[in-house]
Amino acid sequence: MLIRSRRLRTTNAIRDLVAETELLPRHLIQGHFVQPQAGSTEIASLPGISRNSVEATVRQVESDLKLGLRSHLIFGVPDPKDKAPDAHAAHDHDGVVPQTVRALKKAFGNDVIVMTDVCLCAYTDTGHCGINDGPVIRNDESVKILAKMAVAHAEAGADVVAPSDMMDGRIRAMREALDDAGFIQTMIMSYAIKHAGAYYGPFRDAADSSPKFGDRRSYQMDPRNAREGLRDGLLDLEEGADALLVKPAMPNLDLIWRLREKALCPIAAYHVSSEYSSVKAGARMGWIDEANLFREHLTAIRRAGADWIVTYVAREALTKKWF
Ligand code: PBG
Ligand code: ZN
Repeated sequence: MLIRSRRLRTTNAIRDLVAETELLPRHLIQGHFVQPQAGSTEIASLPGISRNSVEATVRQVESDLKLGLRSHLIFGVPDPKDKAPDAHAAHDHDGVVPQTVRALKKAFGNDVIVMTDVCLCAYTDTGHCGINDGPVIRNDESVKILAKMAVAHAEAGADVVAPSDMMDGRIRAMREALDDAGFIQTMIMSYAIKHAGAYYGPFRDAADSSPKFGDRRSYQMDPRNAREGLRDGLLDLEEGADALLVKPAMPNLDLIWRLREKALCPIAAYHVSSEYSSVKAGARMGWIDEANLFREHLTAIRRAGADWIVTYVAREALTKKWF
């Protein structure tokens, strides 16, 4: 036999020599939920992840940094009494997210990369990602509020703002608002391809952000489509995005790959709450080898072309040396 592919699979050392894909701490972004209340609250549908106070978040990030986890994506879970039709708490400069960002930057400076979610769903009374007029989610009004939210996060010291709302034109509006306020260095990581559907259930428990009526299909993308996401991703780049994100990750390996070919910027993928919790549930049942399955998930996402992966499993995987 002239060609024996198995030669390249003989030993561990040889397999490592020929491995094409690397999964390192610098590729991972850990998600955090921060609450104004003291202490921590476990999230039943997201095992191992809690909502934490500002102080508890600082302590958590301190230990994460020791694992080499430098990038942290912050989601605010405001007090329910602060939810309102105009989502005003979203751009409160003393809101729980700006407080957290300030505390993290004060404690760790440029050793930490602080990223913030920019979306209104935890702040509107409807749980929608934009402000509503009856059943209609109003685009341009929402964009104005989102731009203020981004500025509030930047002013607190966020390195990266990550708009996940899916309104049209928000990247340009945010870039202009950030520049006008003097935050020319604040990066924008845009959720370029974000599909509507069932993948975000546990997250919505965690962030208390389920829509009170209807669903998100008038702003998030149809999972049957590829071109609309690629088009929007390229548009986001033109509007000033620095990095583009695709989610959910595993169902969209094709789109990660295709976006990477077209968009010449860092590509992130979000291994979302259901991708995490379904593995956790299977492991609890004793049906699934979670360490290996998580590694295989994240490796596939990297092989598909994601530079960075937002994942709830980052901390546990590094603590337990799963890869
Ligand atoms: C807010 C937001 C969501 C997620 C990230 N940002 C929820 C949603 O769109 O309903 C989902 C993340 C996850 O499921 O882990 N817009
Ligand atoms: Zn939202």
